[in-house]
This record gives sequence, structure tokens and C-alpha cells, in this order.
Amino acid sequence: MTLTGQRVEAGRTGLSFRLDGAGFGYGNTTVLRDVALDVAPGEVMVVVGASGSGKSTLLRALAGLLAAREGRVLAGEEPVTGPGAERAMVFQDDGLLPWRTVRRNVELPLAIRKVSRRERALAATEWIERVGLTEAAERLPRELSGGMRQRVQLARALVGAPRAVLMDEPFGALDAQTRADMQRLLLDVLRDTSATVVFVTHDVDEALLLADRVAVLGRTGVKTVLETRGGPREALRERILKEL
Ligand SMILES: Nc1ncnc2c1ncn2[C@@H]1O[C@H](COP(=O)(O)OP(=O)(O)OP(=O)(O)O)[C@@H](O)[C@H]1O
Ligand SMILES: [Mg+2]
Repeated sequence: MTLTGQRVEAGRTGLSFRLDGAGFGYGNTTVLRDVALDVAPGEVMVVVGASGSGKSTLLRALAGLLAAREGRVLAGEEPVTGPGAERAMVFQDDGLLPWRTVRRNVELPLAIRKVSRRERALAATEWIERVGLTEAAERLPRELSGGMRQRVQLARALVGAPRAVLMDEPFGALDAQTRADMQRLLLDVLRDTSATVVFVTHDVDEALLLADRVAVLGRTGVKTVLETRGGPREALRERILKEL
């Protein structure tokens, strides 16, 4: 099997997550307690909540960047004990390496995994094209717009065919038009992968556009989880706003 094209996805399924009585905090502060949440393989779970409610904390826990103080965090059947290549992260402020070109940023996860130079180049070329950056492949991050940088992050997240993509307000800093373009692009690329997505946002309309289900964070944990398909959108929107 190679890392390029559809072959990457063949046989790979999205990763499930399970939080079970999980609690998180920093120092003396408890941010989340007794969190119970199941994310199904291949679904898009959007997490909304007020600023400071612990959305990034939850995502960090799934990424393996923050250990639970109580309870369990499982990815598939396995406890999450640290970051792993099967779980890719996308941040709001791009985590691109400023001294590496677009191409070399996109190749990075494969380079870390010691994928051959040729395979790396093929996979990067394909993903750079899919996010519409072929012309900009040899530019440095500082020579790109904010939207273009988020495209690079998306390509970098997906190039290694992760089983889950964890996105923390990835489009939060973009203007409305660029944001809408990125949402369309994301839906488009997700159609071809089986990856599970956990996506954090402040924006209820973004949540409704992208989500299969929306988890609303309250003061110390998950308040409700709502299905987005099939129901009247306006009613759901009202409901989420009321819960926030
Ligand atoms: N590294 C840290 N050290 C100490 N406290 C932290 C740390 N990171 C977050 N917190 C605190 O944990 C709480 C939850 O933060 P978190 O970043 O998860 O919220 P959030 O829902 O992502 O907010 P926002 O919407 O503003 O991004 C906040 O009260 C925050 O001050
Ligand atoms: Mg946050």
C-alpha cells in the first residue's frame, strides 16, 4: 500500500473516541468533570460552548496532549496516552513551520514517519492540489494569506491519512468569505476520507453546516449532544443557542 490516492484510505476506518467519567484541569483549577461522550467512527462531531468552557481542553485530551485526572479517554479500544500519527490536529493560529515551504510543511508528518522521499513528494503534491495551492507550493508561510495557511494546515493534517482529525476553531480568524470557502473545502475533502472529525467552534451556523452531531459544553462538562440531520435547522439552531 502506498500513501497516495485512494489507496491510502482503503481498509482504514475512522477512529472512535470514548470519554467516560473523564475530568480535566490545570493546577488547582478543574475545567471539566465527569465527561461522558462517544464519538462514532467517521462522524463529524462539533463541540460548541462559551469561551473558557473547555473546548480546547477536551480536544487536547483527545489529541493526547493533556492527561485525564479521572475517568478514561479511549481512542478505539486503546487508552489515549500521548499524541499519535493516527490523530492529526489543526489549530486556529497555524502551526506551520515558518522556515519550511508549503510543500515541506505538508510533507512533514510523512518525514517524521520516515516515508520515502518519493512517496512524500507524491502525497504532498496530491494534497497541495486538492487544497488549491499548487501555484504556491514553493512559498513560505509568511508569503501566504490566512486562508492559504489554513489550507496548508488542512493538507498537512490529511496527507498522512489519519484516522481522526481534531480541529480547534481552524477558521476562526478568517473573514466570512474565506471561511465559507474553507468550510466547503473541508466538506469536500472529508467526503473522500473515512476519518472521524472532532471540530471545535464558537459559530453555531458553522456547527450546523459541518456536524453530524453537536456537543454543547456547559459549565463543567457536556450538557447535551444533538443530532443535526433530519430535523428543522432553525429549531436546532434555537436549541443550541439556548443551551450555550
Ligand atoms: N495551560 C493552561 N493553564 C491553566 N489554565 C488553563 C490552561 N489552558 C486553559 N486553561 C483554563 O481552562 C479553562 C478552559 O480553557 P479552554 O482553552 O479549554 O476553553 P475554550 O472553551 O477552548 O475557550 P475559547 O473558546 O476561548 O478558546 C479556562 O478557564 C482557561 O483559563
Ligand atoms: Mg479554545
